[in-house]
Amino acid sequence: MFLEKPLSEEINYSDLQTMLKGLLSGHRDFLINSSQLTAFLFDQLPNLNWAGFYWMRDQQLLLGQFQGKPACVEIPIGKGVCGTCAETRQIQMIEDVHAFPGHIACDAASNSELVVPVIVDDQLLGVLDLDSPNIGRFNQQDAEGIAGLLDIYLQATQVDQIKSIALN
Ligand code: SME
Repeated sequence: MFLEKPLSEEINYSDLQTMLKGLLSGHRDFLINSSQLTAFLFDQLPNLNWAGFYWMRDQQLLLGQFQGKPACVEIPIGKGVCGTCAETRQIQMIEDVHAFPGHIACDAASNSELVVPVIVDDQLLGVLDLDSPNIGRFNQQDAEGIAGLLDIYLQATQVDQIKSIALN
């Protein structure tokens, strides 16, 4: 079912969209689809060492479904790359995390990072975070591609389940 892992510059996000739609077609359950999305990204995208969600709960970001090493559990809004994404609601594409003031180092192997906000009906529900051991791993194509895959996940998932855990 899945393709060989491509080189960074050869990622075909259109193919990944088709594959993800198929993968998420059977269920609308939040736990199933969130777990599948993070596993899909981690498996299909080259040069990642972490891929996962942080959900807005109790006015902070709390760790959700992920692939990679165990990670920081709580991230305050406005702190680190994820907290900055949550505060600004803007995609954060960080070429070198060591040059980002306040970067939260969960895994010493991470050198670049892409964080996309999860927004439904103008409500911030969380963030989707990707880490890479390569400096400058992410480009504009990745930012748009990951945002597109996140959109497919949201369309395929019972969003009320996410809202019921996102207490912002
Ligand atoms: N580096 C992130 C923390 C989360 S981990 O990378 C999984 C940050 O600065 O917010």
